[in-house]
Amino acid sequence: MTARKYQTVKVEREEGVAWMILNRPEKRNAMNPQMHYEMEEVLNELSLDPEIQVLVLTGAGEAFCSGMDLKEYFRDLDNDPAEQIKVRWAMRNWQYFRLRMCPKPTIAAVNGWCFGGGFTPLISCDLAIAADEAVFGLSEVNWGILPGGYVTRDVAMVMSYRDALYYIITGKTFDGKKAAELRLVNESVPRSELHSRVMALAQDLKKMNPHTLRYAKDAFKMSRDMNFEQAYDYLAAKNDQLQFRDPEKARDTGIKQFIDDKTFRPGLSPYKRSKG
Ligand code: COA
Repeated sequence: MTARKYQTVKVEREEGVAWMILNRPEKRNAMNPQMHYEMEEVLNELSLDPEIQVLVLTGAGEAFCSGMDLKEYFRDLDNDPAEQIKVRWAMRNWQYFRLRMCPKPTIAAVNGWCFGGGFTPLISCDLAIAADEAVFGLSEVNWGILPGGYVTRDVAMVMSYRDALYYIITGKTFDGKKAAELRLVNESVPRSELHSRVMALAQDLKKMNPHTLRYAKDAFKMSRDMNFEQAYDYLAAKNDQLQFRDPEKARDTGIKQFIDDKTFRPGLSPYKRSKG
């Protein structure tokens, strides 16, 4: 597939893994309107690219993302309500729908500064690994607003009540190790190891049946807000849908390899795929 060129995002492809690099390092990768529009296209392109199995979101230079662009996203749009609506649609579209509901596994590689609005793309990724040296902060209160967009809602989803409120109302910063302790990210590693650790995790994900992964992550995200009876019924239906849709017929193959062929143990590793 011909790679498209974007101005505010760089895409690098490596062994079936697409690195989406927010690319305004001189502005610490603050998200301006152009970045929101381009990220919609980037996610569209990579989600449909058959050569890409895993998507990684990271930032160029010393920042992951310094949040919304205070000038171009906030002040410049104060008197342009039409453009404000359009950009907000684009922002919600890429961060919430295209990234959070991406059909492929996604990993945030938090390489540096991560503030305010940057929390939403981070939390929208399925998994996250931070550099120990990364610095996080819900800085909105420092300049007179509350964490808007999806940020407050997202933080309430992944952090504890006490921790979330502490960081929302103090605006204090914390590093990658603390982010792992708070479970905002899965783990943190020295910055020099971030790339290799993310690639190792991506390689693990590439070994899995992509259809099973897609349904498993959708099911988790959708069922967590349902009541028990709704979730039970939805998960049963989702599993049936997966059996119908999975071209690899993983369930039948896995049971056969375990019960009849005795060639693998489902508790210890994925079944042997004929391809992938
Ligand atoms: N919006 C717009 N511009 C931003 C920005 C943002 N969120 N974050 C950084 N920039 C710009 C700065 O204005 C500066 O531009 P200039 O070179 O034209 O003056 C440039 O990026 C570098 O920023 P600077 O503050 O000099 O870099 P730093 O490395 O010393 O500090 C931060 C990095 C991230 C700590 C600091 O830029 C900052 O506090 N940014 C805002 C974070 C924030 O509150 N985000 C919440 C938004 S929802």
